[in-house]
Amino acid sequence: MTASSRPPVLLIAASPGRHSRSSALLGVAAERLHHHGLATRTLRLRDLPAQPLLHADAEDPAIRGALAAVAEARAVVLATPIYKAAYSGLLKVFLDLLPPGGLSGKTVWTLATGGSLAHLLALDYGLLPVLSALGTRSQVDAVYATDAQIAPVATASDRSSDRDSDRGRDEGGDVRGHTVSSPLGSHGYRIDDEVVRRLSVSAAQVLDRLPPPALAEPAGPPLRPALVL
Ligand SMILES: Cc1cc2nc3c(=O)[nH]c(=O)nc-3n(C[C@H](O)[C@H](O)[C@H](O)COP(=O)(O)O)c2cc1C
Repeated sequence: MTASSRPPVLLIAASPGRHSRSSALLGVAAERLHHHGLATRTLRLRDLPAQPLLHADAEDPAIRGALAAVAEARAVVLATPIYKAAYSGLLKVFLDLLPPGGLSGKTVWTLATGGSLAHLLALDYGLLPVLSALGTRSQVDAVYATDAQIAPVATASDRSSDRDSDRGRDEGGDVRGHTVSSPLGSHGYRIDDEVVRRLSVSAAQVLDRLPPPALAEPAGPPLRPALVL
């Protein structure tokens, strides 16, 4: 694949859950980006092999492929649940594998879902400094949604396969908005109109701030930090 033929936007789903609200948000973000003519590819962190991920084994083929996908992307969208007042541990172990400056020259957009608004600032206080340490300089407006704004709706396949699961219920009645059949799983979700509006605004910002391909190309091995006396 040449640099110009690679999808410019990498979507990273950072929930360990199979049926995931933050991934549903990412699904709508993808739709909005496609609306602007931006191609995407998706990296679902829960699918990476656990042992190489936890052992920081960057030589593992799946891990190497995931790191290459980040290096090649011109924009990265991170979707994380809030767990224990912070972004997911799965996201942290993956970000820890990136080389120094691993996000420099890229536009970064963060999405998060939480049980309530109580930990809205976890993105600003927890994730932003990490992204900054990785070289992120160009961000678009983050989108945070509460669980009440993302209601699961049963799909036909859920009804047959998840009959005994409490997560397979149709709970979408109270949320007016956009229904997404998540491309990241079989589950469908109905997402509040206001959240969809904010996703649309930020997706347009990604288009505006997309760096030219050359700036996001892998720059070879990271430079050793200079010794400062
Ligand atoms: C272990 C665990 C810890 C959680 N901790 C918080 C929290 O501290 N603050 C919060 O707002 N929501 C919390 N939640 C709720 C999740 O953030 C929320 O349900 C989110 O939408 C889950 O996203 P996911 O479906 O993509 O995994 C927690 C959920 C779990 C399972």
